[in-house]
Amino acid sequence: MKGVVKPLVVAALCAGFAGMALAQAKPARVDFGKREFDANCASCHGLSGKGQGPLVEMLTKSPPDLTLLAKNAGGVFPMARLYDVIDGANVPSHGSRDMPVWGREYKIQAGEYYVDVPYDPDAYVRARILALLEYINRLQAK
Ligand code: HEC
Repeated sequence: MKGVVKPLVVAALCAGFAGMALAQAKPARVDFGKREFDANCASCHGLSGKGQGPLVEMLTKSPPDLTLLAKNAGGVFPMARLYDVIDGANVPSHGSRDMPVWGREYKIQAGEYYVDVPYDPDAYVRARILALLEYINRLQAK
């Protein structure tokens, strides 16, 4: 019996280590939406999206609770409306909004990033806003 158990244990250990090596070789998944939100939105909206970011005291309007967007819209995440809110394209630049206009901001960033490489500024802006919306959708209260 002893002679059989030992090779089995060795084989199991080898399989275990091989599994660990494989798991480590897999690149860590980058959560673009979360990264973007934590970097650019959490200062006002808070990491949880509930509106308790450190900049809140400096705002004239308090940021809404972003985890209740779907609930407040009858259970459906209002994707198109929020896209426009974040993009800000239809917002007068001297309006009363405390919320920054991200479409313009991202377009400027794209220009700084690509410099003289051809790129599509609208696609760049769209990808970043959609990543954010996908993340905010995941923050929705059930
Ligand atoms: C300087 C503070 C500030 C930052 C930074 C900020 N927001 Fe806002 N946000 C606000 C305020 C204040 C409001 C309330 C609307 C207003 O401005 O009148 C708001 C409103 C919103 C709304 C509207 C919700 C609704 O129902 O209309 C969404 C969505 C939103 N923000 C998402 C974002 C995202 C995504 C980012 C990051 C890319 C971001 N915000 C960054 C302050 C901020």
